[in-house]
Amino acid sequence: MKNPFIIAGEIPQEYFCDRQEESKLLIRKLTSGENVCLFAPRRIGKSKLIHYCYSQNPLQSDYYCFYIDIYHTSTLREFVYSFGQQVFSTLKGKSDTMLTKFVQTLKSINAQFSYDAQTNMPAFNLSLGDFQRPDYTLEEIFYALEQADKPCVVCFDEFQQIAYYTEKNIEALLRGHIQNLKNTHFIFSGSSRHLLQEMFHSQARPFYNSVSTMKLLPIPLEKYYEFANYWFSKTNKNIPFSIVEHIYTTMESNTFYLQKTMHELFEETSKGETCTLEQVNQIINKIIDENRDIYKHLLSMIPIRQKELLFAIAKDGKAEKIMSSSFIHRHKLISSSAVQTAMKKLLALDIITEQDNVFSISDVLFALYLKEL
Ligand SMILES: Nc1ncnc2c1ncn2[C@@H]1O[C@H](COP(=O)(O)OP(=O)(O)OP(=O)(O)O)[C@@H](O)[C@H]1O
Ligand SMILES: [Mg+2]
Repeated sequence: MKNPFIIAGEIPQEYFCDRQEESKLLIRKLTSGENVCLFAPRRIGKSKLIHYCYSQNPLQSDYYCFYIDIYHTSTLREFVYSFGQQVFSTLKGKSDTMLTKFVQTLKSINAQFSYDAQTNMPAFNLSLGDFQRPDYTLEEIFYALEQADKPCVVCFDEFQQIAYYTEKNIEALLRGHIQNLKNTHFIFSGSSRHLLQEMFHSQARPFYNSVSTMKLLPIPLEKYYEFANYWFSKTNKNIPFSIVEHIYTTMESNTFYLQKTMHELFEETSKGETCTLEQVNQIINKIIDENRDIYKHLLSMIPIRQKELLFAIAKDGKAEKIMSSSFIHRHKLISSSAVQTAMKKLLALDIITEQDNVFSISDVLFALYLKEL
């Protein structure tokens, strides 16, 4: 039997833990015509949740669902290229008629497609340079989706990325299109909380009040224990609740690190045996070790004032009132203005996270590494 704690690639349904309420809610919002902003800290399970929803009915059966990760994009042209390419490859597996219609609708670029001599189906062999007028092409893609024979769901994952585009009017451009669409509904997801928050909740921004917000919380401990225990028992291995609880607390309920630790623990526990706390601690140290060089390098790139604040936050775990004189004295920092400058930089880099004025290190494992130092 393979390891049931999947840490890379697609997660087959039987290995997908919980998320029953969240997937129902997200599907209900989309099928009732809402656009959704889905946000959560890194590696909680946003992208996997979206893929899971896409595999459920009625999305699976009655909708065309497109998923576009725009993390690597930095211009409108790249955005439209990725969008077009994803729509193309999704339709390719689903409907030849829609695929042909789609290509015909993309008047600004359809001369660039080549056709398979045998099947007479178009192939997506376009390059970025073929997208000479991305704003036109974008309009054509949306138009094609509006004409589709089924409703469409489009997810732009890592949507906060558009804030960094070289063009400045992208939010307004997208908002302009999206508000007129009837057949197409959107998920905007991402992890950079303050960026998404500003985009969707600040009155001055084009997307203000245009979406329903959904915050993805960690998988509850009880659900995760149920899941872990099920797979351990099934292979005649034992895992006490206290062990799962220990991992859950150490990894601050981060889904990826939970899975990563559990994956290793499952490997190391023999049939008929019960895993131990000692094993778990060794595994966690091993995972920190695997990342040590990356973290060392990251630290070396951070200027001294920011680094001082970073250590102070790591020490407190959940740091409150970081501009107060008590925090500054306790951690021997320079001044509140220096803290403020450093804080803004670290937030923008997503190295630290802020929630209700409480600051913490975004990556749990990085926090463990800093504490060790
Ligand atoms: N419901 C789940 N069941 C089992 N494993 C999960 C589940 N959700 C997430 N995971 C695990 O957590 C990892 C991260 O999930 P995912 O990529 O969806 O997170 P994310 O919130 O989109 O992260 P990022 O912010 O980095 O994009 C997955 O690779 C998988 O190992
Ligand atoms: Mg993701």
